[in-house]
Amino acid sequence: MFDSHVYKERREALRRQLDGGLVLLLGNGEASSNYPDNTYHFRQDSSFLYFFGINHPGFAGVIDIEGGEETLFGNDFTMDDIIWMGPQPSVANQAHRVGVEKSAPLGHLKQIVTKALQQGRKVHFLPPYRHANKLWLEELTGIRVSQLASHVSVALIKAIVALRSVKSDLEIAEIEHACDIGYEMHTTAMRMCRPGVKEQLIAGSIEGIALAHGAGVSFPTILSMNGETLHNHYHGNLLEDGRMMLVDAGAETNMNYCSDFTRTVPVSGHFTQRQKEIYNIVVAAHDCAIDHARPGNTWKAVHLEVCRVLTNGLKELGLMRGDIDEAVAAGAHALFMPHGLGHMMGLDVHDMEDLGQIYVGYDDEIRPSTQFGLASLRMGRRLEEGFVITDEPGIYFIPALIDQWRAEGLHSDFLNYDAIEKYKDFGGIRLEDDVLITATGSRFLGQKRIPLYIDEVEEIMNK
Ligand code: GLY
Ligand code: MN
Ligand code: MN
Repeated sequence: MFDSHVYKERREALRRQLDGGLVLLLGNGEASSNYPDNTYHFRQDSSFLYFFGINHPGFAGVIDIEGGEETLFGNDFTMDDIIWMGPQPSVANQAHRVGVEKSAPLGHLKQIVTKALQQGRKVHFLPPYRHANKLWLEELTGIRVSQLASHVSVALIKAIVALRSVKSDLEIAEIEHACDIGYEMHTTAMRMCRPGVKEQLIAGSIEGIALAHGAGVSFPTILSMNGETLHNHYHGNLLEDGRMMLVDAGAETNMNYCSDFTRTVPVSGHFTQRQKEIYNIVVAAHDCAIDHARPGNTWKAVHLEVCRVLTNGLKELGLMRGDIDEAVAAGAHALFMPHGLGHMMGLDVHDMEDLGQIYVGYDDEIRPSTQFGLASLRMGRRLEEGFVITDEPGIYFIPALIDQWRAEGLHSDFLNYDAIEKYKDFGGIRLEDDVLITATGSRFLGQKRIPLYIDEVEEIMNK
């Protein structure tokens, strides 16, 4: 937990952004897995963590915008809880640690909310994403679960996005720590990778590193020799000579700040000529993003620049043809990269995605696209100092997509389907690093860079 003044200052900054009403921030509860007392690893809600810092289930916070009163709601532990879980700090004590003066039992929350609503005051709440909190909000506000979405506070969402998008030095240090754990995870995966090893053994080993040094993984590990499936969580294959292993994995620190990296390496430890050719296009795209990532540029423009680099490389290999700008404008390159260049990262690996991508990645100036590929860009807006984003271009050969586009004759001016056909057994490559936007440009996060260039990758795999 940060010092109490950090949370106090965040709540004061939030109050300054809102005109009036009560802010109601619900923490998360325990979630049962296969019977009530067997719960998943607890994960606090990130906005609750940001403003109230308490990493335990069963809390809610209220901020009175006009009056300035802040209250932490939670129930003190009973003797039964203490017998099973050990001594716990009181709610008043927890409140004090994050600079909140007032605390009350959870049962008092409904009274506070009801009174505010009866007085015609606005009760600001965020879009709930867990069923338990949907039901809790229904109970507190009287708004049916099915109607909650149309009552969420856009003013609160925008205020929180404005605050959480710009990372403080303390937060950047935490994210760098998550990146350092990510470094250990990825270099371990590279060392373990060889023909005959089961993907699960490597996936489990690197998830163990995330747990040994922090709160665990920042999302379920993607590790597969079928890297063309973008989010492949199946780890049942034995790695085969001649294939590539894609690992997309990151860690959370004990304070829940995240990292998110991807590397793709040859299972044999040596790239074939064909793998080198595709890999180096992705490297060029990845480096192009960091060259253009600076305050004032939009991430959408950087994404499109990266797509032009990919298209240029694929054209040199004879897989694409025609005018590069026209091909990218038409979206032809999305056959190979059907996703966006990256997303915000912080207390969530896809930071604030629960608040709505339209508010996090877009604004009045930069609107989302509906074009295939570009529509999957989670973050398009203008970059500001203090933003943390991921740079994650890729090239994938997805047989079903190739077959469908070919059958439809889609973008055949720009796509050489006869040549592409020969790559249907290739798989996919993605390279991902975490980037801080600085005053004048950007820099990669993490003390050590995970091997990226071909010679670096071959060196660590063959040590
Ligand atoms: N968690 C997958 C990614 O965004 O990289
Ligand atoms: Mn990733
Ligand atoms: Mn990512």
